[in-house]
Amino acid sequence: MDKAVFDLLYETYSSTIDDIISSNDTKIDTFSHSLKLSSCMIEFIDYLRQMPVEILEKKISHKDVKLFVDYIKNLTLTQYDKLIVMCWWHDIGKIKIEKAILAKPGKLTEEEYVEMSKHSVYSADLLKKFGFDSDIIATVFFHHPKNFSEKKIYALLPEISLLEITDIYTALREPRIYRNRDLSFEEAVKLLNEELAKGLGNPFIEVFSEFITEKENEGYDIFQKFKNLTVKDIIEKSMHYIHKNQVSSLPNINVHTTL
Ligand SMILES: [Fe+2]
Ligand SMILES: [Fe+2]
Repeated sequence: MDKAVFDLLYETYSSTIDDIISSNDTKIDTFSHSLKLSSCMIEFIDYLRQMPVEILEKKISHKDVKLFVDYIKNLTLTQYDKLIVMCWWHDIGKIKIEKAILAKPGKLTEEEYVEMSKHSVYSADLLKKFGFDSDIIATVFFHHPKNFSEKKIYALLPEISLLEITDIYTALREPRIYRNRDLSFEEAVKLLNEELAKGLGNPFIEVFSEFITEKENEGYDIFQKFKNLTVKDIIEKSMHYIHKNQVSSLPNINVHTTL
């Protein structure tokens, strides 16, 4: 193992844990969000994988439905692993956002929102510097598709829609500094749909709603799978997807917020 790379990743990742946002008794940090998100992602992927192809085809809404079904059904162990890794790193760019914006208890101004929405670009930039696989970088770059004007984002990489939908839902089920109470399941689902409607039409809306409703009814916690992982575990696993001297090329699309 390359110790210098390990140390660099460890130091960067640890700083997101130090950067805990707190207000009253509410504490949330990028680290716990990422662990919950990776758990939710894998539970959802497993749910999709056990579904017969003919049913899955009917539940995914996109003109290139085959692209998404093929991705799910032919998922390799490496792709499965990469989905977990991209969840862990997707918000790392928040370390470049001013604390005053990140920890603001109220609604963000238009200007602050624009700044905040750049975190996905900052994340991708950091991952590019570290030499992560290009599909991890590109997915992280686009993980908030509503901030981009490009209409074909979902068809670029199926991972983008998966990361978007699981990320929004995970955030809705967490305590947040700008929210003074926990949301009920019904409220979270309603907000998830409203949030996705601002985007470009996530292909998994229907099947994801079914998945979370089923798990909620069973009383099954979809956020617990990876909850005991340490930063060391995360870095060790992530290092499989770092290649020395790899120069990743990001798609040439300008950041364009919808505001
Ligand atoms: Fe994000
Ligand atoms: Fe996130």
